[in-house]
Amino acid sequence: LSLLFTVQAVFAQNYDESKVGSYQLPELLVTESGETISTTEQWEKIRRPEILKLFEDNVYGQVPKDFDDIQFEITKHDKKAMGGKTTLKEVAVTVTRNQKSVTMNLIVFTPNKAKKPVPMFLVINHRGLKTMDVTRQNKDGFWSAEEVIDAGYGISGFDVIDVSPDDKVKFKNGILEQLYPEQLQMENGMRGLGAWGWGASRAIDYFENDKSVDATKIISVGHSRGGKSSLWFGAQDKRVAITISNESGNSGAALSRRIFGETVERITKNFPYWFCPNYQKFAGKEDELPVDQHMLLALIAPRAVYVASAAEDLWADPKGQYLALTEAQPAFSLYGIKNCLPTEMPAVNQQVICPHMSFHNREGKHNMTPYDWQQFIQFANKYFSVL
Ligand code: GCU
Repeated sequence: LSLLFTVQAVFAQNYDESKVGSYQLPELLVTESGETISTTEQWEKIRRPEILKLFEDNVYGQVPKDFDDIQFEITKHDKKAMGGKTTLKEVAVTVTRNQKSVTMNLIVFTPNKAKKPVPMFLVINHRGLKTMDVTRQNKDGFWSAEEVIDAGYGISGFDVIDVSPDDKVKFKNGILEQLYPEQLQMENGMRGLGAWGWGASRAIDYFENDKSVDATKIISVGHSRGGKSSLWFGAQDKRVAITISNESGNSGAALSRRIFGETVERITKNFPYWFCPNYQKFAGKEDELPVDQHMLLALIAPRAVYVASAAEDLWADPKGQYLALTEAQPAFSLYGIKNCLPTEMPAVNQQVICPHMSFHNREGKHNMTPYDWQQFIQFANKYFSVL
């Protein structure tokens, strides 16, 4: 019998709202020494760095910023791509540190008709190159390039395999082994999700050198594991104007302490290579985490954050994602941004724009679809028009 209980404890996950127990979130605006934060200055000087460090040390690991050299080589330039309406650039971004190099291939489409420079969607893509088919023969809604281009935005992306393969064993075969091997020795060292965000930062380094792109209007997008990475990236790299998490769920936008759907125990067991080794200590011990995921969303303030969910994607806990967003509001308030998210999670297919925060819970399953992209575009249009 006891064996049966153990098996259940490991494999059962809760999908029943009435079974979500009471929990206490770590204080967002109280420092480790007990001081209450009430100004942006205190937030930026004391509490924000504290929270960043807590995520580094306990969840995602550090993200190194140093390297010796970065080169951008345009390997393909087609001014009449996508039936003539866009310019395609394929860019080999080569980063060197201690005489070793890694190359990441960035795919960039900019609309020919729109006034330059254009705002740019940047996708942290874990679904492979076919998803971002440059010939556009395969139009995958996951990377809704046509819709984005028609709206006057650029769309770009890179395959995470170039920086850190999404694999338990091979994740080292990129920047970890080549550029930052010391991270692999550290309990709070960078792993997969951090490495992907590092790649996204190098993409922005390129955009700052491309005159057709407005590098002050970068919109980071990731789905699921890519969404977790997008949030950690947007939290750290202040060059990101809008950070979008699509169905990032556990260790992304969802509150861990709800223990609804995926748990820290499950994720660290199945995907240990996404996180720093220290995160394993919190398997089954969410209450002992010095952070919860609302604090990750708060780090993005006062820049914009978008949390998207899907109603049938209970594994990613739509309600837990919405609650995290509402719990992040006090950090935005410090900047004079109104708390205007409704207390109750909005109905399915109802987008809320608040205006630095946005949320929707699409009908249907776990995926990123043209519907999601339409909402992202709508939000970006609104956000950039008032900035
Ligand atoms: C798994 C994993 C999730 C992740 C998802 C995805 O389901 O448990 O944490 O978000 O894969 O990336 O699609």
